[in-house]
Amino acid sequence: MVSTFANPSTIDFSRIRPEIQALHTQLVEWRRRLHQHPELGFCEQLTSEFVAQKLQEWGIDHQTQIAKTGVVAIIQGDRLGRVLAIRADMDALPIQEENEVPYKSQHDGLMHACGHDGHITIVLGTAYYLSQHRDFAGTVKIIFQPAEEGPGGAQPMVEAGVLKNPDVDAIVGLHLWNQLPLGTAGVRSGALMAAVETFRCTIFGKGGHGAIPQQTIDSIVVASQVVNALQTIVARNIDPIESAVVTVGEFHAGTACNVIADTARMSGTVRYFNPNYGDYFAQRIEQVIAGICQSHGARYELDYQKLYPPVINDVAIADLVRSVAETVIESPLGIVSNCQTMGGEDMSFFLQAVPGCYFFLGSANARKGLDFPHHHPRFDFDETALSMGVEIFVRCVEKFCKP
Ligand code: NI
Repeated sequence: MVSTFANPSTIDFSRIRPEIQALHTQLVEWRRRLHQHPELGFCEQLTSEFVAQKLQEWGIDHQTQIAKTGVVAIIQGDRLGRVLAIRADMDALPIQEENEVPYKSQHDGLMHACGHDGHITIVLGTAYYLSQHRDFAGTVKIIFQPAEEGPGGAQPMVEAGVLKNPDVDAIVGLHLWNQLPLGTAGVRSGALMAAVETFRCTIFGKGGHGAIPQQTIDSIVVASQVVNALQTIVARNIDPIESAVVTVGEFHAGTACNVIADTARMSGTVRYFNPNYGDYFAQRIEQVIAGICQSHGARYELDYQKLYPPVINDVAIADLVRSVAETVIESPLGIVSNCQTMGGEDMSFFLQAVPGCYFFLGSANARKGLDFPHHHPRFDFDETALSMGVEIFVRCVEKFCKP
């Protein structure tokens, strides 16, 4: 799908678009500056300083150092009304950038390879625009969150009270998305992204000579049965109408061809959409491991972590975002609802606390070579998406905080 965004014959000449388009050079400058200085989760010092400095410059009330490096700003409209929060994540990844661009990462081994530099920029642009145009009824709370890539900054921000005082009525957030071309958006109600859980398991058998198995408990044989049996959870325990994944991604055991391994270690990840499965996987995985170990006389240790709940969008707020995105993208065909992914996001903690909508903004441009996947050392996106993101958020405020 080709973007119609920059096509002058279809531009909406309402006041919002030309004014946001005029910010484009600024947006690109901020994004590139942020891109050059990527920082890992909870270490976003330069990033939050940059954000706070801009907010200060524009006279926007804000608080820093929330959940370590988070920043929260408040923009009051000129009348009372509802409170809408807009969220951006700020962290980068431990990846060495392979793009040869003038704005290449200057921090060795670190890279904004997921587009969070773009998210900060879009939300900063939105804050700037709203601070100059306070003709809305209500309050906009701007949330810059640390550590989305892990261990997770959203939950500590919610615990720090960022959704209170004033109490947030709804929240929106976006992810620039290279799985979708520029000029499209992925918007859906209900589940968008999966719950993320991980486990580490060690099986303790009894080592020995490879030719004398009767005196051993072969941890490789036991662990192999565990790996196979774990596959039956999705195949035979989960309602086939639902989606879920159990992946064993690591398996380590043994030292030599003629030695029966004493211990085997594995780790894996679990994904699912339906929040009703809450504790199910943790319990079922342990049952499977315990049963197999018992039948072989082996022992196990299991460390199971529930990281992020699924990202579940509210119907009414998703409808609002969809109608706004249609205006910005100028084509209902550009709005894709078939955009679920088993990837996870800690936006889910905000969405558990208040209704809201997280959505994808298409940012790939294959003609310009800007279509590498997220977390790839050559990831980059089409910066045209920056002003589109600002326009979507501004129009969300316009619609949600109607006088
Ligand atoms: Ni991301």
